[in-house]
Order: sequence, then structure tokens, then C-alpha cells
Amino acid sequence: MIKDSGLRVAVVGCGYWGSKHVRVLHSIDEVERVVLVDGAQERLSSLSRSYPGAAAFTALTDALPEIDAAVIATPPTTHVPLALEAIAAGKHVLVEKPLAATTAGARELIVAAETAGVILMVGHTFEYNAAVWKLRDLVRSGVLGDLYYLDTARLNLGLYQSDVNVIVDLAPHDFSIINFVVGQSPIAVQAWASRHAHARLEDVAYIRLFYADHRLSANVHVSWLDPYKVRRVTAVGSEKMATYNDLAGDERIRVLDKGVRLPSVEGDLSQRPMSYRYGDILSPYVAFDEPLSIEDRHFAECVRNGTTPATDGRNGLAVVEILDAAQLSLILNRPVMLDELGGRAVLLGASNGYPHDTRPSLDPHEWLRDYFARRENPPAERDRPSEPKRLVR
Ligand SMILES: NC(=O)c1ccc[n+]([C@@H]2O[C@H](COP(=O)([O-])OP(=O)(O)OC[C@H]3O[C@@H](n4cnc5c(N)ncnc54)[C@H](O)[C@@H]3O)[C@@H](O)[C@H]2O)c1
Repeated sequence: MIKDSGLRVAVVGCGYWGSKHVRVLHSIDEVERVVLVDGAQERLSSLSRSYPGAAAFTALTDALPEIDAAVIATPPTTHVPLALEAIAAGKHVLVEKPLAATTAGARELIVAAETAGVILMVGHTFEYNAAVWKLRDLVRSGVLGDLYYLDTARLNLGLYQSDVNVIVDLAPHDFSIINFVVGQSPIAVQAWASRHAHARLEDVAYIRLFYADHRLSANVHVSWLDPYKVRRVTAVGSEKMATYNDLAGDERIRVLDKGVRLPSVEGDLSQRPMSYRYGDILSPYVAFDEPLSIEDRHFAECVRNGTTPATDGRNGLAVVEILDAAQLSLILNRPVMLDELGGRAVLLGASNGYPHDTRPSLDPHEWLRDYFARRENPPAERDRPSEPKRLVR
């Protein structure tokens, strides 16, 4: 799929995030032309003042003859129909996060792109962020020891969305970071969420991810209703801890030589229950290249060379599955196994995207009982899984 001439890309949805794609795409050598598409004429008019040479359309359909590829940066519930329209016309697509609002939609996009032979990429921007690469290196290299858990917080006052709740809006970033850092998908999800200032959409949520390796778990807190802006990922290991604070400028990553240990003799009430270690706090250098620029360059390269993006459709689906499980967990008020999503059609009366799936649903309660029993009585070292399940990339 080598293109001799430059790439002509439409940005569909030129709002807050789409306008950043427009700026970044203009700086990429391989991109010959950036076309603006937005349903709101006033949005187009204001952006056209900064990019007077760019063609502008109010509907993707009219832009299709002018382009080779499209970046879809519209509200999440519109991603699937717009991306399908572009794919049906043989265009490569980069879809903003989340790839789709449902697993069924994500699967439909993957099949459509494979059938059409076009590139499908999802805009998981944090997977193009050098600080997240550093955090992954710290976890994977064993510097932190055995990883106990990851904890993320993405909080602020607003911006409320009109079509999806805070989980679908903000948690895709955290799910994508967590999948990337630990290199495996969770097998069960439990979510708690509440509506405060919005009548229909949850604005505060906590989500817990459970893994096949029962020693590992992750907690995600997202909120549109918090007095402070927080963008933090914490990794706690048996030897050290690390934080990624996206708002900390030069010290986005910190490695803390802190930890606890059980006393040598357990059950001796004259001893402290734990001993504590406080050591140095180091902040490794992390170069800053704008992640969106790395992401859009990668998209252009994949289109030019016909290579599979690092964040391809399956990477997008892995995040949407966690979103779906979290949403289902809210409805059912219990933990949901990702394998259960096949049964969602019955529960929600919607297409579940597994037309030939005859797998019986797992009983999540039984699984969780077993999960916690294994946490209480860890298996001997030889029985532990040696390699975590890898994400399908
Ligand atoms: N990767 C990231 O870090 C990141 C950050 C912010 C937002 N996003 C994602 O980007 C997308 C857009 O978010 P936003 O905050 O820019 O929203 P926004 O509301 O600011 O912009 C959306 C734009 O899409 C336009 N639009 C809606 N439907 C359309 C249609 N059918 N055809 C053409 N234009 C249409 C609207 O007029 C609006 O200008 C969302 O999917 C969001 O999740 C990603």
C-alpha cells in the first residue's frame, strides 16, 4: 500500500480535540492536504480562518472524493457510522477513543476494515506518550518488584459530554494505559458510579479490574465533578512504587523507594504488624514529544507502508470490552466477566456482536469466590502462571 503522492486526510469533527489533529497533521511532511469536516458551519468558519487553504465540508460524504484517509474526532456514539462510511469508500481511518461505544460496534469496524483492506487505528494517545513508555519499562523490567496493583485517577470539574457518561468519556485513557503497561487484559470488571449534577449520565465512577493472575488488580477513578484536576497513575510493587503525574511538568515519572514487609515472625503481637521502608525518590528524565504528533505520524506511516498500527482495531476492542463490562456491571450491580459479554444481547436486547458464540456464560460470583480464595491461599511458586496472557496486537 505504498503511496507516491502525499496523503490527503479529512478530520471529521473539528471541535476541541479534532482541531488539535488539524494542527498536528499540517506539520507532517507525508500529509499533502488536510480537509476539514464538521456538521457545525460556525466551527468550520472559525477554523478556516487559521487554515484558509483547507477545503471544508459539513458532511463526510461530500469530502470522500477528496481524501485517502479520515480521522474521526466526533462524539463517541457517532464513531461507528462515520468510520463505516469512510471504510466502505476505501479510506483508511483513525478513530478517536473509544473506538466504538459498544463491543458490537468495535467488532463491526474491525471486520469492515479487514474486508476493505484499509488501515484501522484507534487514537489511544497515551500509548504514544513517552512517560507511559517509561512506566511500562519500570513495571516490565522488574524495578518495582512484583506488581501488586495499579491505581489511576482522572478527575476534574467537567467537561460533561452529552452522549456518554464519565466512564466512556475518560476511562478509555486509563484502560488503554493499564492494558499497555501490564500487557494483559483483565478478565473481570466491577464498576460503581453515581449521577450527581446530571440527570441521565453518571459523573463519578470507580472501576476495579481483576486479572487471571490473581495477585494483580487495578483501580480506576474517573470524575467530571471534582474540585481538583488530577491525572495520575500509581504502580505499587513489592520493592518500589512509581507514579506518573501528567501534570507534573519535568517530573512526570517518579520512582519511590518505599515499601512494607511482613515481620520475620508472624503472629508475634509484641512486634509491629509491618516494617516500613522509606528511601530515595528519583525522577528519571523523560523526553517530551507531543503524543498526538507521534500518533498521527504513526498513522501516516502505517498508511504509506501498509503496516498494522500499534493501536489497531483489536487494541481498540480490548478497551471497549472493558467499557462494556463496566457498563454492564453498573446495570447488574455485580462484577462482570469479559467472557460474559456474549450474553449481553439477552440482557440488554441489543446485538451482541457474537452471532455464532455458543459459550456458556461464566458465573462471576463463583469466579470471584475462587479469585479471593486464591488471594488468601496463594498457590506454590511452581503452580503460578509463568507468563501473563498477552494482548492480541
Ligand atoms: N485522545 C485524546 O486524548 C482525546 C481527548 C479529547 C477528546 N477525545 C475524543 O475526541 C472526540 C471528540 O471530542 P471533543 O472533546 O473534541 O468533542 P467536541 O464536542 O469538542 O467536538 C466534536 C465535534 O464533532 C462535530 N460533529 C458531531 N457529529 C458530527 C458528524 N456526524 N459529522 C461531522 N461533525 C460532527 C461537532 O460539531 C463538534 O464540532 C471524542 O471521541 C473524544 O472521546 C480524545
